[in-house]
Amino acid sequence: MPTDASTAAKSPPHVITCQSDNCPNGKPPARLECPTCHKLGITGSFFCEQACFRENCECTLFKSHKQIHEFVKASAITNPFPSYRFTGSLRPVYPLSPRRVVPDHIPRPDYAEDSIPHSELKSGYSGSIKILTKQEQEGMRAVSRLAREVLDIAASHIRPAITTDEIDAIVHEACIERGAYPSPLNYRRFPKSVCTSVNEVICHGIPDQRKLVEGDIINLDVTLYHNGFHGDVNATYPVGEISEESRKLIDTTRRCLDEAIKICKPGAFFRDLGKVIEPIAQKSGCSVVRQYTGHGIHRLFHCVPNIPHYAKNKAVGQMKEGMCFTIEPMINLGNRHDAEHWPDDWTAVTVDGNRSAQFEETLLVTADGVEVLTRGP
Ligand code: MF3
Ligand code: CO
Ligand code: CO
Repeated sequence: MPTDASTAAKSPPHVITCQSDNCPNGKPPARLECPTCHKLGITGSFFCEQACFRENCECTLFKSHKQIHEFVKASAITNPFPSYRFTGSLRPVYPLSPRRVVPDHIPRPDYAEDSIPHSELKSGYSGSIKILTKQEQEGMRAVSRLAREVLDIAASHIRPAITTDEIDAIVHEACIERGAYPSPLNYRRFPKSVCTSVNEVICHGIPDQRKLVEGDIINLDVTLYHNGFHGDVNATYPVGEISEESRKLIDTTRRCLDEAIKICKPGAFFRDLGKVIEPIAQKSGCSVVRQYTGHGIHRLFHCVPNIPHYAKNKAVGQMKEGMCFTIEPMINLGNRHDAEHWPDDWTAVTVDGNRSAQFEETLLVTADGVEVLTRGP
């Protein structure tokens, strides 16, 4: 008996015959690969001549070669989580675009290469809250102003039919133009340069190939790393005309943040911010997300203090001149405050599929109040 190897050696190497069921040439060896199949990862799609691409299928599932493309696009690629039960109607649209590159001349945070925020972890998210020197405060002013610029640029492109990945490209380029690194990129393996959170997404939505639709709401959360400091800002926007309920959700959330900012000054307790926010949300039939909080920010993206947005929290600490932190309430329509996560391990969604909105500013405590470093026009 010949071995498998000796049989294989005698047969001609890698001959693929024409895959057309109706090949008029008797299925000779084929050299033309279907480029669409190739792109979609369908292997072995070879034909002997152009005509064989068109009418090659007599099976019961597909009427034409093109239908195979449509099927693969619609199933495998647009549903990366086939066994996950979605809470609402939003779906991811994959594949994600390839990882974007930050040129070498732009200084990076310590997690940019290996995704691990080493200095944050070393801080243990505990200890005393940093008081920034005048020079450090200038650093925070500068990066926060840039973050606001980038957010406003990205927001000006919001319209039906733009994809969240296209918004990501705009944010990425705008950061680089300003000599800044887009802080989300590879932070704890977040794959993109901005968080785009649509409709029932509470936060940390990953930009993908989904096109925005009139009536959607979308939060853009932009953070820049510039000259050693992070500046963090986000806002929620309508896509075209939206429902009155969605408009009210957005307005309520903005008001929650604005009223919380008003109590910030030296001596104020971080724990009291939630006491301002929650009643405003509840009066509008909304609930306050508890799993995500505001945070200290400066040379670290996230650090003490931890700032819950709900009432009766046990946040530690009092505000002092020179402290920097964010307030970033996430507010859900209805009475469910809880979040769950898509299998991408980032996208946080409401458990009932209701919409959620968020606003965020980076703040600096001054001698007699607070400076909104990311303040918009
Ligand atoms: N910008 C978010 C915040 O407000 C954090 C995003 S982390 C990321 O804290 F990795 F998703 F970008
Ligand atoms: Co933040
Ligand atoms: Co943010």
